[in-house]
Amino acid sequence: MTDPSEQRPRVLVARKLFDDLLDPLRARCHLQYHDEDRAAEPARLRQWMADKDGVLLTASERVDGALLDASPRLRVVSTMTVGFDHIDVGACAARGIVVTHAPDVLTETTADFGIALLLAALRQIGEAERYLRAGRWQGWSPDAFAGADLHGSTLGIVGMGRIGRAIARRASLGFGASIVYHNRNRLDPQLEAESRARYSSLDSLLEQSDHVLLALPFSPAAHHLIGGVEIARMRRGATLVNIGRGGLVDEAALAQALQDGRLGAAGLDVFEGEPRVDARLLQAPRLVLTPHIASASLPTRRAMVRLAVDNLLAVLDGRAPPNPVALGG
Ligand code: DGY
Repeated sequence: MTDPSEQRPRVLVARKLFDDLLDPLRARCHLQYHDEDRAAEPARLRQWMADKDGVLLTASERVDGALLDASPRLRVVSTMTVGFDHIDVGACAARGIVVTHAPDVLTETTADFGIALLLAALRQIGEAERYLRAGRWQGWSPDAFAGADLHGSTLGIVGMGRIGRAIARRASLGFGASIVYHNRNRLDPQLEAESRARYSSLDSLLEQSDHVLLALPFSPAAHHLIGGVEIARMRRGATLVNIGRGGLVDEAALAQALQDGRLGAAGLDVFEGEPRVDARLLQAPRLVLTPHIASASLPTRRAMVRLAVDNLLAVLDGRAPPNPVALGG
C-alpha cells in the first residue's frame, strides 16, 4: 500500500525564514528546510530542487532556465519579495511553472524607509554619527553637517507604483514637498490627485527636482537608468536615493559625482552586485549605505513570508494563487 504521505508535494525553503510561519507547509507537504542565515549556493540549490514540486525563495536565490531544467517536477516558484528580477519568468512560463510574489504587504514599511533614507542622506545623519562616535566633535558649529531640506522642496519620484505613491503621500502631506513623478505609464487622474503628484518626462524631472528617489523595479531596459549623463542633468547639490534595485544606478558615476560635489548627497539601499558593494561607494562622501532593508520591519517581513506560503500552497492545491506574476508584468 502506498503511504499517503508520499502523495504530498515536496517543497524547498532554502534559507532561514520565520520557523513558525512554515507550519502550514509542514502540515501539508514534505518540507526540506535549511535554516541557515545565508543564501544557498547555486550548486546546492540545484541539488535540492531536483525533486521538488515547489520552492519558496528570497531575493538572494536566482532562478534561470538551467536551474529549471534540473528541476523537472517544479510547479511553482514563490518569492517572498515584491521584486522578481531574480527569477526568469519567461523560462518558468515556457515550462508551465507558476511564479508568485509578495506585493502590497510591504508598501507602507518600504515607503517609511524611503523617507528615512532620504532624510538620512540629505541631513548626513550617518556621517555625523560616525564623526561623533570617533570622538571628533569639538563643539557646536554653524555649518557642520548642514544639509538640505525635504520640507518645501521638489521631490522627483521615478517609479510610481504602490511604493512610489505611498512615498509621494508622505512627502507631500507630511513635509509639504511638491511631487513630480515619472513612470512607464502615466497614472490615471484619480491616482495622480491622491498622490498629489505631477507627471513629467524623466529629463524634466531630473532638471527640476531637489531630490530624486528611485522606486521602480529592475528590467534590462532600466539598467543604469541613472548614469553620468542623467546626473549631469540633475540640479547641482541634489540628492539621489535608490530603494528600487541596484542595477538602476551607475555606481561609478554616482561615486564620482559625490566626490566632485556635483551631487549634494545620496542614499542607496540596493547595489548592483549585492551583497558586494563597490569600493568607490564605500569611499564616497555624503552617502548613506544600507544593506537592502527597506522592507525590514518585523511585522512586514513576517507578512511577506506568510503571503509567500499562501501563494505556494494555493498553486500546489490547484487553486489560483493570490499574487501570480504575469509574463512581462
Ligand atoms: C522586495 O520585496 O523586492 C524587496 O526589495 C526585498 O527584497
